[in-house]
Amino acid sequence: MAEKVRVAVLISGRGSNMQALAEYRREVDTAYELVLVASNVPEARGLVLARRFGIKTWAHSHKGLDRAEFDRLLDEELRRHDVELIALAGYMRLLSPGFIRPWIGRILNIHPSLLPEYKGLDTHRRVLLAGEEYTGCSVHIVTEELDDGPVLARSEVKIRGRDTPETLAERVLEEEHKLYPRALDAFCRTLKSGYEPFTGPGA
Ligand code: GRF
Repeated sequence: MAEKVRVAVLISGRGSNMQALAEYRREVDTAYELVLVASNVPEARGLVLARRFGIKTWAHSHKGLDRAEFDRLLDEELRRHDVELIALAGYMRLLSPGFIRPWIGRILNIHPSLLPEYKGLDTHRRVLLAGEEYTGCSVHIVTEELDDGPVLARSEVKIRGRDTPETLAERVLEEEHKLYPRALDAFCRTLKSGYEPFTGPGA
C-alpha cells in the first residue's frame, strides 16, 4: 500500500463533504489522499470545487445506461487511478452488488442520521415527525444493503423546539464536515497498519 491511502470520492451534487475532506487534507498530515472525484452527474457543482483543489475529476451521466453498465465504467476509472478506498459523499445512486463485492470493506459513506436509525432518504423530516430529542450523522462501511454495514463513527446533534427539516439539515451538515474527514483518516490509518477490519458479511 502506498504511503497514503488513495481515495476516490463519489458525488452527485453540491460536494460539501468532499470539500471538507479536501480541506482537512490541507491542514492535517492525513493518512489519505484524494486522487479522484467521480460523479454520475456531469454538471455537479462539487466537480468544479474538486478541480479548484487540484483533484482529478471524472463524470459520466448514468442516463441511458443500466446500473451494471454504468458501474463497470466507474470501476474501470477507479482502477485506472489505482484507487484503494471509495468515499461516498452525497452519491445519490445505488451501487450494484457486482460493483460492491470486489470493493467490500473499502467503501465508506456518510449518512445524515444516527444509524442504524433512519436509513434512507428524507431523514430530518422523519426524525422531527417522530419527536426525537437527538439526531446526527454516521460514517459507515457500505454493504449491499442500503445504509447498512458497520458504523465507524457517529456525531450527535440536539434537536431544538423550533427546528425544521432545513435548520436541522444545516446543523447536521456542519457535524458531517467535522466527522467525515476524521473518520476517513482514522480508517485509513487502520488500513495502513495492515489490519483488515471488515471483509464482508459472513466472513
Ligand atoms: C449529506 O447530507 C450526506 O450526509 C448525504 O447527502 C448529503 C450530501 O451533501 N449522504 P454534499 O453533497 O456533501 O454537500
